[in-house]
Amino acid sequence: MFLKQYTSNILSTTVLLLCCGMPPSLPAVPIPVHGHFTFDGNEFAARDFGNQLHSLPWAVLHPKKVSDVASTIKHVWHMGPASAMTLAARGHGHSLLGQAQAPHGIVINMESLRGEMQVIKGKSPYVDAPAGELWINVLHHCLKHGLAPKSWTDYLHLTVGGTLSNAGISGQAFRHGPQISNVHQLEVITGKGEVVVCSEEKNADLFHGVLGGLGQFGIITRARISLEPAPKQVKWIRVVYSDFSTFARDQERLISAEKTFDYIEGLVIVNRTGLINNWRSSFDPQDPDQANQFVSDGRTLFCLELTKNFNPAEEAHVDKEIKSLLSELSYIPSTLFVTQVSYVEFLDRVHAAELKLRSKGLWDLPHPWLNILIPRSKIHTFADGVFGNILTDTNNGPVLIYPVNKSKWDNRTSFVTPDEDMFYLVAFLPHAAESEGPQKLLNQNRRILNFCDSAQLGVKQYLPHYKTQEEWRAHFGQRWEIFAQRKSAYDPLAILAPGQNIFQKSISIL
Ligand SMILES: Cc1cc2nc3c(=O)[nH]c(=O)nc-3n(C[C@H](O)[C@H](O)[C@H](O)COP(=O)(O)OP(=O)(O)OC[C@H]3O[C@@H](n4cnc5c(N)ncnc54)[C@H](O)[C@@H]3O)c2cc1C
Ligand SMILES: *[C@@H]1O[C@H](CO)[C@@H](O)[C@H](O)[C@H]1NC(C)=O
Ligand SMILES: *[C@@H]1O[C@H](CO)[C@@H](O)[C@H](O)[C@H]1NC(C)=O
Ligand SMILES: *[C@@H]1O[C@H](CO)[C@@H](O)[C@H](O)[C@H]1NC(C)=O
Repeated sequence: MFLKQYTSNILSTTVLLLCCGMPPSLPAVPIPVHGHFTFDGNEFAARDFGNQLHSLPWAVLHPKKVSDVASTIKHVWHMGPASAMTLAARGHGHSLLGQAQAPHGIVINMESLRGEMQVIKGKSPYVDAPAGELWINVLHHCLKHGLAPKSWTDYLHLTVGGTLSNAGISGQAFRHGPQISNVHQLEVITGKGEVVVCSEEKNADLFHGVLGGLGQFGIITRARISLEPAPKQVKWIRVVYSDFSTFARDQERLISAEKTFDYIEGLVIVNRTGLINNWRSSFDPQDPDQANQFVSDGRTLFCLELTKNFNPAEEAHVDKEIKSLLSELSYIPSTLFVTQVSYVEFLDRVHAAELKLRSKGLWDLPHPWLNILIPRSKIHTFADGVFGNILTDTNNGPVLIYPVNKSKWDNRTSFVTPDEDMFYLVAFLPHAAESEGPQKLLNQNRRILNFCDSAQLGVKQYLPHYKTQEEWRAHFGQRWEIFAQRKSAYDPLAILAPGQNIFQKSISIL
């Protein structure tokens, strides 16, 4: 490959000369950009949160304008199928297995494409945000207008484009649906380099395709995100169960009730000692004497985690409402813990944990995570087979579990859900201990998936990683055909997001 880089002082833009060298007589074609390309020091683009796969790109584009992304894609598009060149958008690089990497290709550093965020107030308020923006920044910007997005992820140091390419699921999804159910409009650059504005009304197929589309149909450059009035404060509640059926029944009742909490999640706790003592640093036991009697050691427990949002003037009222909601639940009475934090502190809670883990050198370890969506009718089989059996401790990181209602998911998007009306998200989120490496946890993940297969639970993976197209076909099931059709319509050369391993450039895709 032949390349040359220089800065043109006439245009004051960086120009990348890129040519495949085959045939040798092919002239080098300049890509005019306002940002710049880097060819060295790109190790960051070969790393992600999973820290298990590392592929260096050939170059990284640091775009300054949307047109930089469009010109670069267009250029690679015009190189045609004979060139192996690929392109991956990189949000915050918090993928698990190289999904935002482009081996020997071009990585587009979306975070350098920051721009204005614009909040529009009114009956249905929204914000227009650059896709490379972190959710935490979107939140702070919207709060200046007394508004906030409705649906979140547990961790906000992720980009808008990165989570919308997956789904964006958290404890608000039972009510609002995932983040992909809360966007009105997108600006997308397709695999042919065309800039397209799309929504339910306009270019709807591309709009739905890109949501949950794993970066396969285009690069999102802007998103119009639905907002609501932001609460100031949050009552944050934890209660514990020792019986899974009781726990699940209460969770399902809460997500189906008209009057309920604002956030509903849960945690599986296996073989932990001193659990309640750990909570004391941030939560207050409602009955300190009783709480002292509670022993977690060794047992398998289920923690229901809830919040209720409020503004200071409503506090007495909200306390009453919480009391009434809790009175319907069957948790172990001595395990009621409550704390009160600002809305931002609550939403940004995992970042606080990140800082602690970083200080102990535990943040940059490999993360062999596993996320599974399980139909409601099979969750008890799953729990019996996995919690306390295949999963013998949760000391390496949290295991989350909570149900959502499928009516809040749009089946026109690329996201695939299990077949039933209600399904659970179960998220195994460990870090690999430095002394052990990831193998033990990878084996555990394999055993969990094998169990799901042999018990025919009808699960779908979230944030999946497969090595072959066969496995992807099985993942998408009936939805494969439309996924492949969209690929041939919007990225027919399979230039985009090669790290997902769904389509390969230069190979017929249908
Ligand atoms: C600590 C932590 C907590 C998490 N919590 C949650 C959670 O609660 N709920 C949840 O749903 N997920 C959660 N995730 C997963 C997270 O949503 C995904 O890892 C997401 O991909 C991260 O966003 P990113 O900006 O880092 O994307 P990247 O990892 O940079 O990219 C992800 C994929 O999307 C593509 N992509 C990136 N930007 C764009 C774009 N603008 N246009 C098109 N394609 C693009 C990339 O090419 C890649 O294929 C969590 C991850 C971490 C590390
Ligand atoms: C899911 O939500 C829909 C629409 O709000 C509702 O009609 C349905 O009863 C809910 N399903 C369950 C199992 O709660
Ligand atoms: C609990 O964990 C300890 C070490 O952390 C281990 O020795 C023990 O076997 C575990 N108990 C069960 C029931 O898995
Ligand atoms: C999506 O859901 C609607 C309403 O539930 C249904 O009529 C339609 O057939 C579904 N479409 C697909 C592609 O599954």
